[in-house]
Amino acid sequence: MIQQNAEVRSNQPVKGQHYRMELRVGDTFEEPHPGQFVMVRLPGRLTPLLRRPFSVHRWFVASESEAVLSLLYRVVGPTTTGLAELHAGDRVDLLGPLGRGFTLPNSGESVALAGGGIGVAPLLFLADRLLETGTAIEDLTVYIGGKSEQELLCTSEFSRLGVKVQTTTDDGSAGDQCLVTDPLEQRIRKDPPDRIYACGPPGMLDCVVGIVRTHGISCQLSIETMMACGIGACLGCAVENRKDPGRYLHACLHGPVFDADRIRLDFR
Ligand SMILES: Cc1cc2nc3c(=O)[nH]c(=O)nc-3n(C[C@H](O)[C@H](O)[C@H](O)COP(=O)(O)OP(=O)(O)OC[C@H]3O[C@@H](n4cnc5c(N)ncnc54)[C@H](O)[C@@H]3O)c2cc1C
Ligand code: FES
Repeated sequence: MIQQNAEVRSNQPVKGQHYRMELRVGDTFEEPHPGQFVMVRLPGRLTPLLRRPFSVHRWFVASESEAVLSLLYRVVGPTTTGLAELHAGDRVDLLGPLGRGFTLPNSGESVALAGGGIGVAPLLFLADRLLETGTAIEDLTVYIGGKSEQELLCTSEFSRLGVKVQTTTDDGSAGDQCLVTDPLEQRIRKDPPDRIYACGPPGMLDCVVGIVRTHGISCQLSIETMMACGIGACLGCAVENRKDPGRYLHACLHGPVFDADRIRLDFR
């Protein structure tokens, strides 16, 4: 983990309230693993005082001394509003990479990714890594859901990788009008994948947990609890350990990626 004032390489609106930012990080920044996150602060601003967590959305090595780390973010409050105002050459204060990421599948396993809304952010990096490490393109499917077309993110990026993409929206403005977990469950009934990786709002993750439990499928979830420090110091990100009720895990240290059967999801 390292703190770095990273330079903004680009910062583009994606759609609706969503933006994608590329940051140049120096060679002292450790290569992240899919599912890890960074804590972000806007340099030179007194508020908000606390950093905010963002998943690593993508990563590539640009040269011997420079790598590029991308964030995909939704504008919801002061930090994300401030991020959206930045331009190439501006600076962002990063701490990371933090937390535990996804466990990659065994060779030859089939994989389904399920992302709801901004929860798709860490899944593109995971897809990049899966394809680099030998998951066959025909063994990878991504299910992306959103409230509306404006919240369906990264569909073209996944398609460009050659990955099968299935989309759903709550209002029917794009894809099938249903929950993202509906086509996932239909697929499981016909041809269950060996592993599922999911990130999204708590209701979606709850539904994924119910499905994988019913069908006995190995699944990891990336959860988005509130976090104040991101490094295990404030105890603000506690999640109950399902296997040891009354005991708590810390999303920032033991997660944010957890095996689906390891935690209780009522963390808010
Ligand atoms: C591990 C992790 C990874 C994340 N990755 C991303 C990402 O890739 N892209 C992205 O856009 N966001 C991500 N988030 C969520 C992001 O950290 C928050 O939205 C952040 O608080 C925004 O900061 P802000 O100052 O703009 O708004 P804030 O003022 O912090 O928040 C605005 C509103 O959202 C509420 N809020 C903040 N965090 C959460 C939360 N976790 N759950 C529910 N409500 C919340 C606040 O109470 C407030 O009402 C992630 C969170 C975690 C824990
Ligand atoms: S966010 Fe402070 S302990 Fe996890």
